[in-house]
Amino acid sequence: MKKKKLKKGPKLFLISLIILLIIGGIIIKQTDKHTNKKMTQEEKNLQKLKKIPYYKQQNKTRYLKYQKENPELSTENIVIYVNIGIDKPYYTNTKPSKNLNTNIVLVNKYNYLTESYTPKNLETIDLAYARSGMQLVSEAKDAFEKLSKDAKNEGLNIIAMSSYRSYDYQVDLYNNYVKTDGQQAADTYSARAGFSEHQTGLAVDVYNKTLPYTSFEQTEEFNWMQENAYKYGFILRFPKDKVSITGYQYESWHYRYVGKTIAKYIYKHKLTLEEYYVKKVEN
Ligand code: DAL
Ligand code: ZN
Repeated sequence: MKKKKLKKGPKLFLISLIILLIIGGIIIKQTDKHTNKKMTQEEKNLQKLKKIPYYKQQNKTRYLKYQKENPELSTENIVIYVNIGIDKPYYTNTKPSKNLNTNIVLVNKYNYLTESYTPKNLETIDLAYARSGMQLVSEAKDAFEKLSKDAKNEGLNIIAMSSYRSYDYQVDLYNNYVKTDGQQAADTYSARAGFSEHQTGLAVDVYNKTLPYTSFEQTEEFNWMQENAYKYGFILRFPKDKVSITGYQYESWHYRYVGKTIAKYIYKHKLTLEEYYVKKVEN
């Protein structure tokens, strides 16, 4: 009996179809494998993130995105940095500062004071320790005077040259810097009005009477502050190695009153106020 042969055309079609099905199968399998692997990794990351005590469910997507963009960061730092807000550009996602009129109020490029906010209990610093008319809130003023007095007893001058600044004052200050240096540069060293912690009455810029405040780092007084400021409740607010967290260039002259206990903790653990806030205040 003669074998019935398939004609060339249909045969070729059948072979092509089989090949296509095989290739399709392989592609689907590979894609499945890839998706599963990706999901597992993401789930693993999420599990780790959830173990961090300051994890917030509402920030889940932001943590995962920030982690993808910054794989070198520890899981803990991913949570801390996103909670601070630094995964978003400065001056976006801003909120009114909480804990007003307390030592731990946080004012930075994401947390602001309103135009009408004036701290309670502002008092003028004794002229022996400040330029004329410098004010801080009562508790911070007492602490600063003590600090400056003790330094003076060791032959050092730690003098307040700028302390409480009103919203309107900061408007003028910032606008002048913008005029001189342009906004991009000004934003690296000056806060926009409402975003300066000088408006809290808890921040003070110091100098030693001899050198301009911008050279404070080169003075004996600076070394003394490095060793002693925390004992009086003050922290160096914008350290050299924390620019990406604070959003400001290093300022060796700017100190922030937070009270002795918190200052000691921040000093000992080498934190910024932002990190402390996430770990100890919000949590
Ligand atoms: N120089 C600090 C950042 C301020 O303007 O408040
Ligand atoms: Zn300052």
